[in-house]
Amino acid sequence: MLISPSLLSADFSDIKSEIKKIELGGADLIHIDIMDGHFVPNLTVGPDFVRAVKKTASLPLDLHLMVTDPEKWIVPFYDAGASYITIHQEATPHLDRIIEKINSLGIKSGLSLCPATAEKSLEYLLEKVDIVLVMSVNPGFGGQKFISNQIKKIRRLDEIRKKSRLSYMIEVDGGVNCSNAGELNSAGVDILVAGSFIFSSDDYKEAIESLRG
Ligand code: DX5
Ligand code: ZN
Repeated sequence: MLISPSLLSADFSDIKSEIKKIELGGADLIHIDIMDGHFVPNLTVGPDFVRAVKKTASLPLDLHLMVTDPEKWIVPFYDAGASYITIHQEATPHLDRIIEKINSLGIKSGLSLCPATAEKSLEYLLEKVDIVLVMSVNPGFGGQKFISNQIKKIRRLDEIRKKSRLSYMIEVDGGVNCSNAGELNSAGVDILVAGSFIFSSDDYKEAIESLRG
């Protein structure tokens, strides 16, 4: 299982050393949450921040776009150094076009589902994406409680993947900690995102290891 710490809960005033600590702690990716104050009720960072992280990080950057009209932001975030760009199913009627755009840039593409959105809505897209990101909290903030019925969605996505011989990875984001990581792994998760669990711990390495079980 890959671990992608979410910088949302990191200390932004000391971001360089926060990045160093998760890299030394054994993280696999760096998850960056992009929020526009429109699709979700919070505002975070844009391409300039991603570019600054890219300058200091050696791990691939896993961008989670919680923005309306994601189409406008694919090239700016690609230029800033994204290795993975995930957009929301609920954010645009033009998912196929935007996924094609991300794929054409030669980076990994992902589709994310809010807790209320069924996996069925991705039927015609699953063969085109590298990642399906299941939100296990309502997007917008770190530190929320895990919504346990999302495990059913993860299991279904894992079944579809096996039945249809597809190779997308399943990523889960929100309320992940060492108590639910094992169950998520058995349900089929390949990438665990964790923000507050890692950054509120005294030892990031220990926290990351505890997620791997
Ligand atoms: C929430 C973000 C998450 C968030 C997770 O909208 O997408 O990536 O940082 O934070 P925790 O792990 O604290 O739930
Ligand atoms: Zn996220």
